[in-house]
Amino acid sequence: MTRRVDLRSDTLTQPTAAMREAMAAAPVGDDGYGEDPTVNALEARFAQFVGKDAAMFVPSGVMANQIALRILAAPGDLLVAGRTQHLVGFEMGAAARNAGVQFATVDDRRGTLTLSDVLEVIDAEDDHQPHVGAVAVENTHMFAGGVPWDVEDLRRLRAAIGERPLHLDGARLFNAVVATGTSASDFAEPATTVMACLSKGLCAPVGSLLAASAPLIDRARIERKRLGGTMRQAGILAAAGLVALDTMVDRLQEDHDHAQQLAEMFAAAFPESGYDPDSCRTNIVAFNHPQARQIVEELANRGVEGSTVAPTRARFVTHVGVSDDDVDFVAGALSHFVPVTH
Ligand SMILES: Cc1ncc(COP(=O)(O)O)c(C=O)c1O
Repeated sequence: MTRRVDLRSDTLTQPTAAMREAMAAAPVGDDGYGEDPTVNALEARFAQFVGKDAAMFVPSGVMANQIALRILAAPGDLLVAGRTQHLVGFEMGAAARNAGVQFATVDDRRGTLTLSDVLEVIDAEDDHQPHVGAVAVENTHMFAGGVPWDVEDLRRLRAAIGERPLHLDGARLFNAVVATGTSASDFAEPATTVMACLSKGLCAPVGSLLAASAPLIDRARIERKRLGGTMRQAGILAAAGLVALDTMVDRLQEDHDHAQQLAEMFAAAFPESGYDPDSCRTNIVAFNHPQARQIVEELANRGVEGSTVAPTRARFVTHVGVSDDDVDFVAGALSHFVPVTH
């Protein structure tokens, strides 16, 4: 078989043997009635991790984001978010379709939002412009290259927006935790709602969690039902999620180390991209290059799969399926590299 190193996404990870065992043995019930003990345990564990009253298990990160928007903002409201955040650019317009909100997007090239940009949108309410229902941030920020927030910046943002709700898309929250040493509850404290995915670097097959105050999670359960996201004997899935939270967080450091090695290789192979390998702090290598698509195509021909997240932006993601040997293999694929031109 020809060798292949798959760096398209950390969503490609497979459930571990311990997860499959836990899934087989999980006590289950009807979660629509709140009677699945394994789901209840997972929700309680996550709520505790992020220091919120309550949490809710959902099938996907997109659904968690969408439910958050529906409980935080009213149709017609503005949602302030970074231009390249997942819920702006990668959810197929779901925010408009599901929550009826419109975006006021601000620059997020470095992964974080600038206070003055956010406040400018809020101030414009006084000039006959739409009400800002909520602000959303992403930690780590995927498009920017897995950039974690500094918790002090999040706290400043919280203070600046006053009573307005703040949603934290923490699809890779635990990568941010491992990279910064900031706890999940410290990251979550400034946020009104926080979501995290179990099915990315943590290797669970399915599932994300949304946490908030108890009254907000009561409302979130109604929105989950409206979206068709209420599951039944979902403890089978939640069992893998518990293993993910309990045993898979610390090992993310290995993914970050591999990404750092790859970042240095890509920066050296494509100096014209201006990519700074030190900007790689977690498990995502992402850089701009006019020939990004050709680079991805040519590397795939050499057995290294990556992707583009915009026509001129290439992305390579590390995960548990990437070994030291695989990193060496990428080094080989990058040597004497000349992207094909079309
Ligand atoms: C930052 C971010 N938010 C949300 C999601 C959505 O997660 P899911 O694929 O589970 O719907 C992703 C998925 O890649 C993501 O990267």
